[in-house]
Amino acid sequence: MRGYTLFVYHLKGGVGKSTLVTNIAGALSQLGKKVLLVDMDPQCATTFMVGAQPVPREESIGGAMMDIHSLSSLVKRTRFPGIEILPGSYDLWALDLSLGQVPEGRDKLLADALSPVKELYDLVLIDSHNKYGLAEVNALMAANSVIIPVQVGVLPFECLPQVQDMLHGFEETHAKKVPVLGYVVTMFRRNSNLIHWHTLSKETDRLLREKYGPLVFNQVIDYDESVAMAPRLQEPVEYYSGRAKASEEFVKLTREVLARIDGGRNDGH
Ligand SMILES: Nc1ncnc2c1ncn2[C@@H]1O[C@H](COP(=O)(O)OP(=O)(O)OP(=O)(O)O)[C@@H](O)[C@H]1O
Ligand SMILES: [Mg+2]
Repeated sequence: MRGYTLFVYHLKGGVGKSTLVTNIAGALSQLGKKVLLVDMDPQCATTFMVGAQPVPREESIGGAMMDIHSLSSLVKRTRFPGIEILPGSYDLWALDLSLGQVPEGRDKLLADALSPVKELYDLVLIDSHNKYGLAEVNALMAANSVIIPVQVGVLPFECLPQVQDMLHGFEETHAKKVPVLGYVVTMFRRNSNLIHWHTLSKETDRLLREKYGPLVFNQVIDYDESVAMAPRLQEPVEYYSGRAKASEEFVKLTREVLARIDGGRNDGH
């Protein structure tokens, strides 16, 4: 489905959102697809990881949403085939304040800005900060569905009911349901030298599958040093090391994501 828009989200920080966005993009690139990344996070991690430069706020998604520039004029190519990006800006922390001053339609500015261009892409991926403000409301208004990465550990799992509450709250106030396309277990540790991490990994995986059943993607993303090192060369891991275990995992996960989108299987909770 062309122009399908996925919001990668979690209220917890550091769970692997930007890494997931970057490496789903890397996999799509290797599968010959075209993807647009929208970096709404003032940390600009996704921008950095695909080798792009942060820009002044008027040239980021902020400028497109505030109608200063057309979105298409701000999109940058990356050196990876098929991956284009609307780069982030270190000044995006103030986006919510600017959006709050827009008198009307402030929740739909991202959807409106994306609408003329999104059909050019097989997938649009949005990365944002771990908060719920006007920027994230805009991301939800623009999105077809949400992917939630769940890093192995206690807090990313315990925080999930808050994410659910927030999505339900959004649904009630905006009369739009944004289904969860799926949950992804990330940073799974198999290394037997790290026995407690391995136990915690299995437990996080089990609890998630007990609670959310088939909404959890079959493919798990392992903790892999190559994933942590790829940003040094500002590359998705598939380009950094095609032989890394995580490269294969991201490609398999991306195939699952595409199959769910194609199968219309995005009516979860
Ligand atoms: N599968 C993995 N293997 C090894 N390291 C990983 C993996 N996934 C993510 N990381 C590392 O974990 C850290 C957090 O990841 P990332 O920045 O993607 O999280 P985030 O949810 O986007 O964080 P934030 O909330 O700050 O935006 C980074 O240093 C990243 O390189
Ligand atoms: Mg991030």
